[in-house]
Amino acid sequence: MKRQVTKAVFPVAGLGTRFLPATKSIPKEILTLVDRPLIQYAIDEARAAGIKEFIFVTSRGKSALEDYFDDAPELETSLRKKGKTELLEALKATNMDSGAIAYVRQNRPMGLGHAVWCARKLVGDESFAVILTDDVIAAEKPCLQQMMEAHEETGGNVVAAMEVPHDKTSSYGVLDISEDMGALVRVKGMVEKPKAEEAPSNLAVIGRYILTPKVMQNLNKKKEGAGGEIQLTDAIAEEIEAGNPVYGFRFRGQRYDCGSKAGFLQATVAFGLARPDLRDEFADFLGDVMAMRTAAQ
Ligand code: UTP
Repeated sequence: MKRQVTKAVFPVAGLGTRFLPATKSIPKEILTLVDRPLIQYAIDEARAAGIKEFIFVTSRGKSALEDYFDDAPELETSLRKKGKTELLEALKATNMDSGAIAYVRQNRPMGLGHAVWCARKLVGDESFAVILTDDVIAAEKPCLQQMMEAHEETGGNVVAAMEVPHDKTSSYGVLDISEDMGALVRVKGMVEKPKAEEAPSNLAVIGRYILTPKVMQNLNKKKEGAGGEIQLTDAIAEEIEAGNPVYGFRFRGQRYDCGSKAGFLQATVAFGLARPDLRDEFADFLGDVMAMRTAAQ
């Protein structure tokens, strides 16, 4: 049976404090990797995975994000007149069809689980994807598409997973594995941000999920978890306790944590070096910087 997932939730209502002061007036999701905002990478990945309905959970101060996906007729006319075809195509690729994007508000940042819950009416009674724009994943086949393919076989809940250093488990939701099948693992528990000595494994959850409607129902209970926030991890863990399937999926690709400054800088370097029009000049520059660093030591 083919299991079609056509809706994706993008929780973008966080405060983005790690990027202050920039995020005082600019949403974190508009910060730019080379020449495209983070949100564009997330949307492109969702489209590649067959998503048709895009649900944004936003908050105060995020209007730049809403405007970003509108057509820009004046700009398009001006580029057309000047014959700047490549730029015009790049611009048009960002337009979303009328009605394809819906926005709901999260009044207060009460946690990722709460943000996803805010989308419940638009998601309805069907399985849905969640994409965290902070996690940018460079991959030959986009990560969510890999997960969709796995989900077609397994059904249930599938979360993206990645091995992390043991001393970093306290930054992630961590999986307790009951069966390791290679790319897929069957999960028997999930712990939010455990200390290294309490972590059941070093397989961490990354910001891509395919979830059943039951997870949304679990969020309805609005139980506070770690940090006083309503955690998505807890709502998924409840499914495991109820005996329903939850899988971790080791995706193929390189993930960058663009919610942190160090991760964002690493992504900028990697994406810059991957661009044919920038590669040579940028690589030369980086080489010079490294040489100067070595000389100074
Ligand atoms: P983060 O934990 O990275 O929080 O949220 P944040 O507010 O974005 O950033 P910092 O830590 O203050 O720098 C992970 C994802 O969950 C969303 C965020 O927008 C981000 O995409 N989120 C988090 C919400 O939408 N609502 C919340 O209440 C919390």
